[in-house]
Amino acid sequence: MAVINTQIRLASRPAGFPDASNFRIERAPVPELKDGEVLVQNHVLSLDPYMRGRMNEARSYAAPVALGDVMIGGTAGEVIASKNPAFAVGDKVVGSFGWQEYGVSDGQGLKKVDGKLPLSVYLGAVGMPGVTAYIGLYDIGEPKEGETVVVSAAAGAVGSVVGQLAKLRGCRAVGIAGGKEKCDYVVRDLGFDACVDYRSSSFVDELRAATPNGVDVNFENVGGPVMDAVLSQLNTFGRVPLCGLVSQYNATEPYPLPNVAALLWKRIKLQGFIVSDRMDRWPQALADLSAWVAEGKIRYHETIAHGIEGAPEAFFGMLRGKNLGKQIVKLV
Ligand SMILES: NC(=O)c1ccc[n+]([C@@H]2O[C@H](COP(=O)([O-])OP(=O)(O)OC[C@H]3O[C@@H](n4cnc5c(N)ncnc54)[C@H](OP(=O)(O)O)[C@@H]3O)[C@@H](O)[C@H]2O)c1
Repeated sequence: MAVINTQIRLASRPAGFPDASNFRIERAPVPELKDGEVLVQNHVLSLDPYMRGRMNEARSYAAPVALGDVMIGGTAGEVIASKNPAFAVGDKVVGSFGWQEYGVSDGQGLKKVDGKLPLSVYLGAVGMPGVTAYIGLYDIGEPKEGETVVVSAAAGAVGSVVGQLAKLRGCRAVGIAGGKEKCDYVVRDLGFDACVDYRSSSFVDELRAATPNGVDVNFENVGGPVMDAVLSQLNTFGRVPLCGLVSQYNATEPYPLPNVAALLWKRIKLQGFIVSDRMDRWPQALADLSAWVAEGKIRYHETIAHGIEGAPEAFFGMLRGKNLGKQIVKLV
């Protein structure tokens, strides 16, 4: 009997915040495998802010998802049929099959994992978000012992790892997150030194109090007024790994940074980066991250939605900050 694959496809491009009408559910039989191909049952799907950008037609570092195509996304699952000698039934693999229950691949871009950690972790702390934190902080931020590192979206997939990596380097780690519950989690469970709620009316004063020696590294995840507030706290020769601007992804007008002059007179190094630019650094980053997660030196939390049909709602929730830690969709 044919295996039926449920998929979420991009139906239309959003203007501003996306909604359910931008997606379409389709069900189709999984095609017969050709020589060299493998069939993977996806167990978990990663939902990430970058997906919002791929829904737009706009010019960016990667091509948009074409209308009618399956939504892009990282997945982890198990090989359930194989006509490729490099993969056996039962292998656990990480791939990019997108928002669907099954995927067929010729093996390109499919990576076997040892499965010692839960599969979802290979989409989070020991996957793309963890490597983003590692490369952005260690290679671009270059934090030194005793320095202060500030990270926004601190309770999320990338930010939660950034602060813990900063602590492993002997830095003061200060998070910025939306709400008391997230800030409490970041300090109590992840071991940051402080966390400031950017929704508080006294945010700027609280940020200043949490960074008495100024800020040496601002790992920027959100942009907008939050970024502006941290720029005013930067020390001379501070570094800004510009990782993301999630506060702007649904904006219809760009936010102008009033504090841009500070970049000049404080001689700030600000560098945008995309984690896939540094594929040479992935093996070392993944080896370190998986060891530190196994040893409990890096902790993680997941927000889990169930079933592929739940992916759009979970995606909207993640863009609104409803997730604590990594947003995952469990498919099996
Ligand atoms: N450059 C790269 O290669 C690369 C790779 C991966 C991720 N990224 C970027 O890294 C950032 C974090 O990604 P992630 O996967 O770890 O996502 P995440 O932090 O797990 O989830 C997104 C978070 O963004 C915050 N947010 C949403 N709207 C906001 C707003 N208006 N102002 C401030 N915060 C807002 C929410 O947290 P609060 O509740 O705290 O607001 C939400 O939980 C994103 O900007 C993403 O695009 C970049």
